[in-house]
Amino acid sequence: MQDSYQDTYSAWEADPDAFWAGAAQDIHWFTPPTTTFDGSIGAYGRWFVGGETNTCYNCIDRHVVAGRGAETAVIYDSPMTGQTARYSYDAVLTEVSALAGVLRNHGVSKGDRVIIYMPMIPEAVFAMLACARIGAVHSVVFGGFAAHELATRIDDSGAKVVIGASCGLEPGRIVPYKPLLDQAIDMAKAKPDYCLVLQRDQYHAPLRYEHGDVDLAQAIEQEKLTGTKVDCVPVASTDPLYILYTSGTTGQPKGVVRDTGGHMVALNWTMRNIYGVKPGEVFWAASDIGWVVGHSYIVYGPLLAGNATVIFEGKPVGTPDAGTFWRVVNDHDVKVLFTAPTAFRAIRRDDPDGEHMTRYDLSGLRALFLAGERADPETLKWAEAKLKIPVIDHWWQTETGWAIAANPAGLGLLPVKHGSPAKPMPGYALDVLDDAGHPVPHGTLGNIVAKLPLPPGCLVSFWNAEDRFRSSCLEEFPGYYKTADAGIIDEDGYVFVMARTDDIINCAGHRLSTGGMEEVCAMHPDVAECAVIGIADELKGQIPCGFLVLKKNVHRDHAVIAKEVVQLVRDEIGPVAAFKMVLMVDRLPKTRSGKILRGTMQKIADGLPWKMPATIDDPAILDEITAVLQAHGQVPSAGKVAVG
Ligand code: COA
Ligand code: AMP
Repeated sequence: MQDSYQDTYSAWEADPDAFWAGAAQDIHWFTPPTTTFDGSIGAYGRWFVGGETNTCYNCIDRHVVAGRGAETAVIYDSPMTGQTARYSYDAVLTEVSALAGVLRNHGVSKGDRVIIYMPMIPEAVFAMLACARIGAVHSVVFGGFAAHELATRIDDSGAKVVIGASCGLEPGRIVPYKPLLDQAIDMAKAKPDYCLVLQRDQYHAPLRYEHGDVDLAQAIEQEKLTGTKVDCVPVASTDPLYILYTSGTTGQPKGVVRDTGGHMVALNWTMRNIYGVKPGEVFWAASDIGWVVGHSYIVYGPLLAGNATVIFEGKPVGTPDAGTFWRVVNDHDVKVLFTAPTAFRAIRRDDPDGEHMTRYDLSGLRALFLAGERADPETLKWAEAKLKIPVIDHWWQTETGWAIAANPAGLGLLPVKHGSPAKPMPGYALDVLDDAGHPVPHGTLGNIVAKLPLPPGCLVSFWNAEDRFRSSCLEEFPGYYKTADAGIIDEDGYVFVMARTDDIINCAGHRLSTGGMEEVCAMHPDVAECAVIGIADELKGQIPCGFLVLKKNVHRDHAVIAKEVVQLVRDEIGPVAAFKMVLMVDRLPKTRSGKILRGTMQKIADGLPWKMPATIDDPAILDEITAVLQAHGQVPSAGKVAVG
């Protein structure tokens, strides 16, 4: 019989090493680890030290060797192009091996970094696995980021090769990725040796052969013709599998480093115990491979556990309608679906009575998991009522790579408390501390922290920035990892995650740094100073709003300046920033020491109760901000300019 949540959590508490050593048995090791956890190395210790393994082997070859090669591994479904395709484990092995050969022919070997800048197509997944196969470290960049962000990642990772596609597809438009890649490479200080470019039918990009561009499809074809077999390269358990850049508190993104062994052990464990799926079943994370959810649950988790995974190139609404998700569930017999609450808010907005759901056979769907932002109880209850299956909120971060708190379907569901992602998963001992680091009573809001060491699968450091990792995550609360989320733990041990404690906002399930946007706004020559805050939005959860103070000698039309600033953010960060709202103000509210009171501004903007900060320099400025926001509410007036 399956152990209950409490038994499982207690077993982990009693002997964490034995617990994870047990989970590691399900992974194939070329050399088994000598030590389950070694606390003496790394920022907080390292998992499965002495072990040698390979993630691609565990995702693909292992299942082929076990005789499951003919079973489906990858399902591609693109309402953008009308295409669907299925790849067996055998077929994935052929594709990945050929792509690994192409990488090797272009000088990539163990430890080298490879940037992947591709839309939601099977080749993106093959590219990730091909890197893993030869021990190269991939770094996937989300397609909604613009050239400058891409250049930052190329430079920081020191990528030897970029694997890109000619274009992505957004509703109603083709997004040419290759020109953005060209710009990024022109901007980058460290130029990659090659760009392997997949030409899509929708847009053939001019290739710059003199700069090392290679037609990827041709190179793969050539490799298949020669039939060279590329074996999986054994790597240390502690070697990096990937770097995933995520927003930090400044414009400089931080490269979360994921190791090899711990990552596999943790993700494999979650598939059965948290998501409750069995090998062979179809698991669909409707996210993007550019985000951590895509890494963990489009690619690695399902393939490690021998599931079929869905690569969906579309949106929850508008491709062509709010029934797309249900069509995919129906067509591919999806057993468990995972997406962001914002996708459900979009579906609910377009199909409030859930009529589309009645047009498809959803009887195979067992559970819906939500993450990426707070699941507001209204959306959650609507999904429960319409789908009549468990709708499970779970909380995690790019840094952790898997759920910190969840309601584990595989261990037997706990009673649901709406608004809470339920209880900590094994590996996570959570506390809530006040700003001075003292535990607060149950039910009191504070900083949610996880006792060190972090479990397998969590970040081991930031790429080339161990000091930054220590100072931003480990130092403020000694002995703990700071999640930078504020929340409460109630008397039953349920966690409620309420807000970030830093400048990160969550817009349409995408993590964005308002500090990064401020840096871009400040680049505009007419801007004297600025503040960007996240304000509540019915669909996207939060959207960024920029408050600009213009230089005294600027007499240009405010609407024109606002448009320029919006465009600047789009060009520098990318459309994903969803930065469309700009308000002109005379002054920004500050403390006497000069700190901008962003938190108070946000409360005012969201219509929440707020207190006059004791340290405020000039209280009248908050009235000015309120007036500008009020004017923005309905009718445009002189104080504000909204663009979009
Ligand atoms: N490549 C290029 N551009 C992209 C892109 C990509 N991969 N993804 C998004 N963009 C663009 C969009 O086209 C949009 O451009 P626009 O300003 O010209 O309209 C902009 O970035 C903002 O995108 P988004 O915030 O996603 O808004 P949207 O209106 O296009 O879609 C939702 C809204 C809610 C339907 C959509 O955000 C969604 O499906 N969210 C789910 C989020 C998710 O999966 N998160 C991952 C964590 S689980
Ligand atoms: P990302 O790193 O992009 O996955 O974003 C992580 C952040 O998203 C977390 O730190 C939270 O602020 C927020 N988040 C993710 N899942 C949840 C959830 N289930 N409930 C509340 N906030 C969440």
